[in-house]
Amino acid sequence: MEYRRLGGSELRVSVIGLGTLAMGGQAYGAADDGDSIGTIRRAVDLGINFIDTSDNYGFGRAEELVGQAIRRRRDDVVVATKGGTPWDDQGRATIDCSAAAITEAAEASLRRLGTDWIDLYQIHVPDLETPYEETVRALERLKEAGKIRYTGLSNFWVEELDAWLAVDGVVANQMPYNLLHRDIEAELLPYCRQRGVGVIAYTPLLMGMFTGRISPETVFGQGDHRASYPQFQGRPLRDSLRLVSRLQPLAADLGLTMAQLALSWVVSRPGVTCAIPGARSPEQIEENAMAGERVLGEEVIQRVDRLQVDTQVETPRTIPMKVVEVKEWAGRRLAILEVGVKVAVPPDTRTGDVIGMDIVTGRVSQLGGE
Ligand SMILES: NC(=O)c1ccc[n+]([C@@H]2O[C@H](COP(=O)([O-])OP(=O)(O)OC[C@H]3O[C@@H](n4cnc5c(N)ncnc54)[C@H](OP(=O)(O)O)[C@@H]3O)[C@@H](O)[C@H]2O)c1
Repeated sequence: MEYRRLGGSELRVSVIGLGTLAMGGQAYGAADDGDSIGTIRRAVDLGINFIDTSDNYGFGRAEELVGQAIRRRRDDVVVATKGGTPWDDQGRATIDCSAAAITEAAEASLRRLGTDWIDLYQIHVPDLETPYEETVRALERLKEAGKIRYTGLSNFWVEELDAWLAVDGVVANQMPYNLLHRDIEAELLPYCRQRGVGVIAYTPLLMGMFTGRISPETVFGQGDHRASYPQFQGRPLRDSLRLVSRLQPLAADLGLTMAQLALSWVVSRPGVTCAIPGARSPEQIEENAMAGERVLGEEVIQRVDRLQVDTQVETPRTIPMKVVEVKEWAGRRLAILEVGVKVAVPPDTRTGDVIGMDIVTGRVSQLGGE
């Protein structure tokens, strides 16, 4: 396994980490706790030392499982979690990075993880209503108390990251990156390299698309968000699978599986520190971990890129979302969407409007009213 320094920190992380979103038992449907714990332990046995979780994965369940799995091996693991997206009794999420909310969230994460410190505490998404200075002060206090070692961000595009860095440093930014979602290449990756910010690639397998195990006949289980994700429907799915079938011979030539090629490609891109593929079973993490042994050369990367360009995959990314509340803040109009996300919207947006949200960048476009 290859290890890299995370941004300007003293943390050395495995290039293949482990994501625990599916273990929360919500986003990908039901999860088996025994399998989840076995997967985390197997990951650590294989040299994966970077485990990514979040307070809202299964409303705390994923953090509890991470805590149980690493209890006896805490020093072998770099634990990364996230906060800033609290939820209410009905499971309705919101975005809140106020000092009180972040402090409470970090304390709750520590309890669920059963640990005295979090190695990397990440702000899950930018909060458009809380000044970054306020959040930074809360994070500083947590650092001074020894409760978090380093801070990171997630889903901060260049504009937001630049604004954050004007207030405080961070060691990493966690962003979507895979063979079809390459938005970070244009500006964010070069910017992070220049500013010494590590980049953690999430959804590196495009939710399992690039494993070779998805087919048009795949039926996603109850509660699995892929059932309504545009890339997993109709023509975009067929296109994506055509790309997979064209990449598979190349993977075989290199002695890799499709998942390993997809992951090696991600961690071979300049500026990417590590990838955090999710896994549901020890077998999946065993396969994924092997990608950490194989950084790809420029020639292979170019072959992958050429195949991708030639295949012309349709990548639909906008999903309709209802606006449940609008408000003005600091001269901007903000909308709360039905899933609790808070976004900046054009001035004429009203409650009840349905707007389009890009599921990769979180940016919105106007679709029309009711
Ligand atoms: N910061 C953020 O906003 C954010 C957002 C999303 C995710 N994340 C983080 O990034 C991590 C990765 O994203 P993700 O889990 O959504 O997507 P992903 O890593 O692209 O795909 C994970 C899914 O692919 C399938 N899979 C993985 N390895 C496989 C293998 N070797 N063979 C066959 N199937 C395999 C599994 O699903 P099936 O077995 O069910 O097919 C697994 O749940 C998350 O776990 C989370 O920690 C962060």
